[in-house]
Amino acid sequence: MTLEEYGALSTEELSARIRRAKDEKRAVILGHNYQVPEVQVLADYLGDSLRLAQLATETDAELIVLCGVWFMAESAKILNPDRRVIIPSKDAGCPMADMATAEGVVRLKEQHPGVPVVSYVNTSAEVKAVSDVCCTSANAVRIVEAVEGDTVIFVPDKNLGAYAASKTGKNVILWKGHCYVHNMFVPEDVELARGEHPGVPVVVHPESPPDVVARAEFAASTGGMMKLAEEHDELIVGTEIGLIERMNREFPEKRFYPLSAFAVCRNMKMTDLPRLAWALEHEEYEVTVPEDIRQGAERALARMLELS
Ligand code: 13P
Ligand code: SF4
Repeated sequence: MTLEEYGALSTEELSARIRRAKDEKRAVILGHNYQVPEVQVLADYLGDSLRLAQLATETDAELIVLCGVWFMAESAKILNPDRRVIIPSKDAGCPMADMATAEGVVRLKEQHPGVPVVSYVNTSAEVKAVSDVCCTSANAVRIVEAVEGDTVIFVPDKNLGAYAASKTGKNVILWKGHCYVHNMFVPEDVELARGEHPGVPVVVHPESPPDVVARAEFAASTGGMMKLAEEHDELIVGTEIGLIERMNREFPEKRFYPLSAFAVCRNMKMTDLPRLAWALEHEEYEVTVPEDIRQGAERALARMLELS
C-alpha cells in the first residue's frame, strides 16, 4: 500500500493498524510533546527531549518508533546501537539543529583551547561527537554548572545558552542559532496575554529570547511545563501548541492559554497517523549513524544522562 492509500483510511482503521503492528513487532512508540494530538494518544510514552533519551535507554522493545524530529530519533539510535530505530517522516528535521556544523564547532574550539563544549541535543550526531557533553532544556543550567571552568562554549541555541549563563554566572560563548518557533516571541506577547488573563502565571520555554524569559514567572522544558500544569489551575504557556493540546487533554478542568496561537513547529507536524501506520508496517525510515561518530556522540549523551 502506498502512503497516499494510507491517507484515505479512517482514523479508527489507522489506529487499529498501528496498535496491531506495534504488538506484532514488539515496538514502542516514543512521542514528543509537540506531536499532533492523534499521534500523542497512540504513543506509549510522551515526553520532552530528556525523557525521550532516558526512555530510549530503558526500553526492551525490539523496534523504537520515534515520533518527533530527526535529532531525537538519532539520539535514540546513538544510545541503542543494537535496536532498530525508525522515524515516520525522514524530512522532519529541526532547523535549529541544522544551524550548527561539526567543522564550525571544531573551529570554535581551536579559537578557545581547553574550553568545554556543551551541545544542546538539538544537534546532529556529528556535532555531538565533537562536544564534551550534551544538554536539553530540562538540564542545561545543571550541565553548564557541572562542567569544569568558568567559560563554556554553548551550541547552537543562543537563547538557551544565554539563559544558562544568567543562571550560572558563567561566561558562555554562544553559537548564533535559534528556534524559529520560540525566537518569534516578543515581550509584547507577554504583556498582551497578562492583560487578557490577569493574575495567571506565565511559563515560557528557555529557547525564547532573554527579554521574554525575563518577563515570565517560569522558564521550563516541555516536561517541566507539564509539572507546572499539574500544580496550577491556569497558565499562560509560551511554547509550541502541541504541548497545550496535551495539557488540555490531561487536565480538562484547567485553563491553558497559548502565548501565541502561531507557535507551530511545522517539522514536528510532519508526522501524522497515515505516516505512523505506514512507518510501522514498513519499518521505515530506519535511522543509522556511522559507528565512529556514534561512539563520540554516545559519550557526550551518556555524560549528560549521568549528570541529570
Ligand atoms: P523540550 O526538550 O523542552 O521538549 O524541547 C524540545 C524542543 O525541540 C523545543 O523546541
Ligand atoms: Fe526545532 Fe524549534 Fe521545532 Fe523544537 S520547536 S524541533 S527547536 S524548530
